[in-house]
Amino acid sequence: MKEQLAKIKSEALAAFGAVASPAALDELRVKYLGKKGELTAVLKQMGRLTPEERPAMGALANEVRAALEGAIESASKKLEASAMEARLKAEAIDVTVPGKPVKQGHKHPMYSALDEIKDIFVGMGFTVLDGPEVELAELNFDRLNAEEGHPSRDWSDTFYFDEDSRVMLRSQTSPMQVRAMDTMPLPIRIIAPGRVYRKDEVDATHSPMFHQVEGMVIDKNVTMADLKGTLNLLAEELFGKGTVTRFRPHHFPFTEPSCEMDVQCHKCGGAGCPTCKGEGWIELLGAGMIHPNVLRMAGIDPEEWSGWAFGMGLERTAMRRFKIADLRLIFENDVRFLEQF
Ligand code: DAH
Repeated sequence: MKEQLAKIKSEALAAFGAVASPAALDELRVKYLGKKGELTAVLKQMGRLTPEERPAMGALANEVRAALEGAIESASKKLEASAMEARLKAEAIDVTVPGKPVKQGHKHPMYSALDEIKDIFVGMGFTVLDGPEVELAELNFDRLNAEEGHPSRDWSDTFYFDEDSRVMLRSQTSPMQVRAMDTMPLPIRIIAPGRVYRKDEVDATHSPMFHQVEGMVIDKNVTMADLKGTLNLLAEELFGKGTVTRFRPHHFPFTEPSCEMDVQCHKCGGAGCPTCKGEGWIELLGAGMIHPNVLRMAGIDPEEWSGWAFGMGLERTAMRRFKIADLRLIFENDVRFLEQF
């Protein structure tokens, strides 16, 4: 029995010393110290000893048990320490490794142009408004004096949401005039930039989604001279001192009289060239004196108040401002193009 105990001790100590994982250690613990373990099996034979032999053998067995338990304890500590070391190694952060370069973007040229436009108008006391792209046809058309049957209301031109043509993607920023009249106290000076949608095929000058900047002034004794003075200032601030403009008569349902404003071609100075398609002029915006019907529908007395409004294409303005030849470049977001501005 003595030999048995000595053998168990030396075998177990060797095994615990070489153990490589907590699971293996647990297995060994069961193997030697468990209820059906080797040490227990030896102890069960104590009954066969004489009463004189028992105390010494009991003491020896206890000593072996204590030795095994101590060995398990230290093996377990060793395993924990090496697991911690492995984790520290795996999770180490090397702060000396050079970082990945971050590519920094910058403002899109169209938004640079918009920022300039906003600055110019804010400097003249205008408020900048933002409004919904999903709009009621009532505000996009009816309240702007474009009655049933007006060609711009056609399904072939407009993105409607429902069968009875009530809700649509706005086809112009002009409904923002109505929203301003409905919510703001008079006098009003606003611009309202934003996206608009029309069923157009994509080409060098068209896109089904593009941007406009709407502008409107309502005050007492406002005349066409105010309109021309303000828009001429806009052209000079955007395109440089001495920029030549012209106002041509036009028709819009919500203004009377209506006009379009052209800017003399910067390339040829009006003689005609490929940039202006031989015209000498580039169309910039539509404008006019607000139609009395539009004021009346908003509850504003046209005898007391008058106003003017304009709507300009933002892409077209940015194209002129930064001499960009093709509208598609504005939307493609090719970094090689964008990096030039
Ligand atoms: N909404 C017009 C368009 O999309 C542009 C326009 C013309 C706006 C005259 C105006 C205006 O405010 O007075 O073609």
